Order: sequence, then structure tokens, then C-alpha cells
Amino acid sequence: MRSLRGATSTGAAGLLAAAIEGAGRLDMPLYLVGGPVRDLLLGRQPSDLDLVVEGDAPRLASYVAGKTDAKVVLHRRFGTASVRVGKERLDLATARREVYERPGALPKVTGGSIEEDLLRRDFTINAVALGLAGPRSGELLDPSLGVSDLDKGLVRTLHAKSFEDDATRVFRAVRYEQRLSLSLEGETLGRLAKALEMDMLATVSADRLRRELALVLSEERAVETTLRAGALGVLSRLYPPLKDASWMGRFPEGSGGAQPLTLVAGLAYPMSHGEAEGFVRRLNMPSSWGAAARDMARLTGKAAALEAPELPATALYRMLEGRSAASVEALRRLTPSRAAQERLAEYLERLRFVKPILRGEDLASLGVGRGPRVGEVLRLLLEERLEGRALTREEERNFVLNHLKSHGGEI
Ligand code: CTP
Repeated sequence: MRSLRGATSTGAAGLLAAAIEGAGRLDMPLYLVGGPVRDLLLGRQPSDLDLVVEGDAPRLASYVAGKTDAKVVLHRRFGTASVRVGKERLDLATARREVYERPGALPKVTGGSIEEDLLRRDFTINAVALGLAGPRSGELLDPSLGVSDLDKGLVRTLHAKSFEDDATRVFRAVRYEQRLSLSLEGETLGRLAKALEMDMLATVSADRLRRELALVLSEERAVETTLRAGALGVLSRLYPPLKDASWMGRFPEGSGGAQPLTLVAGLAYPMSHGEAEGFVRRLNMPSSWGAAARDMARLTGKAAALEAPELPATALYRMLEGRSAASVEALRRLTPSRAAQERLAEYLERLRFVKPILRGEDLASLGVGRGPRVGEVLRLLLEERLEGRALTREEERNFVLNHLKSHGGEI
């Protein structure tokens, strides 16, 4: 197991030391829990520090803030708090029991022991804790044999109704499996399939589903995670036109440097306009996601034009201007046509950045006048430049003056 000290930065270590000291003074047993313990057991760098106290987390967080320069945010109603110095952050929660009254509903929360807190969790590999202060300091708590599952390389739910309690766990299962090179344990796989069959994703709000998809698309191995979610039927349950999303395999492995937004556009690759619109609604997408998905559906309709033997730069620019760059990038990765790939790359790497040198005020001083005409002449200049003409400031000036002359000085 990787040492906690070796895996934390100086800032986080300061916060942690204050929390441990405070937990001792306030007589509240303190534990590192879940993801960070799992990551330390695997020898990985923990991405966040989650702490649980048997006591009162907001009170301990206030103590830490009083002893350090940390800013504190308290959620007394939930018994949680976070303390932050710069980029370093500790999340503290009061140990709790959760009861799910119906699928998808937020759980009823009451105070509990650390064991109860661990046993309400999603997978055995996350139901682990390390005592930091109190009688069990230095002890590894593993009531559901998560360490043995880590050794065997298995993602296993803690009980039969885990995915029904919270169907977002189907995405979590796939993320852990792909990120940590584990496999879904047999019974867990069956439970996941059953939850999908029972349409449990329908019990989760659009916003929560979108956040889960965003986490999938932000993973280091985003493409593999997406393909696995597709193969398991998670994506077709999320939105039927996503099917098994097998076309996403045309993205290079990992995300190949692609941003999550490019992968959102990629998911819409085979969709009609209507289906893309449904996808936007299904996940209550914000405008950047919506533009990526809708523009992808619009662009695939231009596939033949993008492959045409002759396509002037101006025509290519007109076809793509105003479209979300994520959708153009996704189409570049997904289209099988070499000619289309090259044109999309030309647009992304060069054409979309082209701008005339002259500005509106320069045109006014050359006698173009003000108002919409300025925009029209700027556009002509842009097109000259896109076609490789009018390259210097002088050439642009000459173009404008010739244009003025040919319009009798009136444009
Ligand atoms: N958890 C859960 N069910 C959920 C979400 C979270 O049981 N639907 C539990 C898990 O035990 C998890 C902990 O809450 O370990 C904290 O959640 P999160 O920060 O999302 O998990 P990490 O394991 O820290 O994940 P990551 O490594 O992706 O940050």
C-alpha cells in the first residue's frame, strides 16, 4: 500500500495534520474512506481526500479552518463540509446510514457508525477505510472484503439492490472497471443487466445522467469506457439511438487528446437531426453540448460535399463556419473518407483562424463608409485571404480601393 504521506502534497498534508489533531481534541474518530484508500491500496495517486468522522464533520472542519488558512464550506443539514487551501481540499462527512425508500430517490440519511457508512456504498473496493484518529487509528477497515476483490481484480456490488437504489452506479461500475483494469464480478454483471432491463436509468434525472456521462467522457481511457458502456447496453438504455456506440472505436485509444465535448459530438455521429434533438433533450444538455450534438447531425449531411474532387477553400469555410469546433473535430476523427478528413483538418488547423488584416476603422478611412457595408467588405477580404489572395496589408488596401473604384466609389 502506498503511504498516505508520500501521496499527499504539502498543502494537503497540512490540512490532514490539522484534521487529525482536531479529531483527537474533539474526540471524534476520523477515517480516510473510499476512493483514496482504494487508490493507495493499488499504489495509485489518490485524486481527492475524503474523510469520515464519527461525530460532527462541520465542527471538525471549522476547527481545521481555525488552525490553518483554509476556507471552509459547511453543509450542516447534510453533516458535511469541505476545507480548501489553494487547489488542495479535504472533504469531510459525518458517518451515516442511508435508506433508499424507492429507486432513484435521494436516500434518507441518519447518523451511523463507520461500518454502516461503508456498507451503504456502491462497490466493495470503495467500502474501505483507514483509521486516522481515535481507537482504530492505523487500522484498515474492510467489512465487505474489498481488499480481496482488489487483489482478484473485481468490481462487486455490496448487495442485490445496489443498482436499483442508485442507477448512476452502472456508469461508476464501468468507469472503475476500465480505469483500474478490473472486471465486473459475475453476479454484479447480472445485477447490472437486470437493472438496465428494469429501465432503472429512467429513475434518474436528466442532469444526473448527463453528469455521469461527462465523467465517463472525462476518463483517461474515455473511448474504452464509452465502448464498454455501449457493449453492456448502458448507452442504448440511456438513449436508444446511441446503440452500442461501436463507431466511437474510430477515435484513437484513450481519448486521443479529444476533449469530452468532441466525444459528445462523436456520440451523435449516426443520428438524424431529430434524433440529435432528442439526445439534447434527454440529457438536458447545456448550450455547448447541444451545439456539439446538433452540429454533428448537420455536418454528417454534408459528407458527400466534403469529399467532392473540387472544393474551394471559401466553399469549405462556408460549409463549416459557425459550427461547433467539437463537431468538426469529431467528424474528422470518424469519417472514413480521407479527402473529408484532410479538408476538416485544413479548416480546424488553418482556415478557421484566418482574418483580414484591415479592421472596420481602416475601411472607413479608405472611404467605405460605415454600417453593414463594412461587414460586407470585410467578408470579401476574408474570402480573398481564404483563397490565398490579398496577403499583405498593402494588397488588402489595394483590393478595397479597386473594389471601391469598380463600384464608382459607392459601396
Ligand atoms: N458512492 C456511492 N454511490 C454513488 C456515488 C458515490 O456509494 N452513487 C460512494 C463511493 O463509495 C465512493 C464515495 O461515495 O467511493 C465517493 O464518491 P466519489 O468521490 O464519486 O468516488 P471516488 O471513489 O472518490 O471516485 P473517483 O476516484 O472517481 O473520484
